[in-house]
Amino acid sequence: MAKVLIDRPNNGHFYPWPLVLVSCVSEEGVPNIITIGASSVCSAHPLIIGVAMGIRQYSYELMKATGDFGVNIPHTDQLFGADYCGGVSGRRTDKFADLEWTATPAAKITSPLIEQCPVSLECKIVEIAHLGSHDWVMGEAVAAHVDESILDGDGIAYDRTDPVWSFFGEYWSVGEKLCDWHGAEPN
Ligand SMILES: Cc1cc2nc3c(=O)[nH]c(=O)nc-3n(C[C@H](O)[C@H](O)[C@H](O)COP(=O)(O)O)c2cc1C
Repeated sequence: MAKVLIDRPNNGHFYPWPLVLVSCVSEEGVPNIITIGASSVCSAHPLIIGVAMGIRQYSYELMKATGDFGVNIPHTDQLFGADYCGGVSGRRTDKFADLEWTATPAAKITSPLIEQCPVSLECKIVEIAHLGSHDWVMGEAVAAHVDESILDGDGIAYDRTDPVWSFFGEYWSVGEKLCDWHGAEPN
């Protein structure tokens, strides 16, 4: 994919609350991926992205060791891989190798990115909230890589995106644009 490096990503690059794939790497240099349904933009300036990490997740150990992580947005074309990465552990298998996916070196962090995903954000951990079963891990997005086919100026052409939502054991694609902000008609 011919991706454009964006030095100052904004929260528009993290488009509608999608299923994300967090990428990370072990001390031995083996890259890993964890599927994450719970993520969000926490701040726009600076852009902070939060991900809910189960406190015993293998990937979480790797993220704490490097102090960073990649947030990759899969499209429906990557659904098989996204589902796979949420069902097996990097403790036992190399998910990149299993899926024949490519771990691309990042520009500003140690964790690699997923070449096959159209958007990848490089995040440096700035704060962790210890909440219970999951920690809310907040990372500043210091760079974004966006496939040029969905890039519109500095932003994203959402009509050309095809992200995945996950709800209660199901995967969904996103529907059509309804209207602009403050343009909704009363029923
Ligand atoms: C659709 C989906 C969403 C998931 N969301 C989360 C999540 O938000 N946080 C989390 O810690 N695990 C989540 N998981 C579970 C992990 O992806 C799963 O335990 C994974 O195998 C852990 O990989 P690892 O052992 O290589 O770190 C999700 C799994 C699926 C299938």
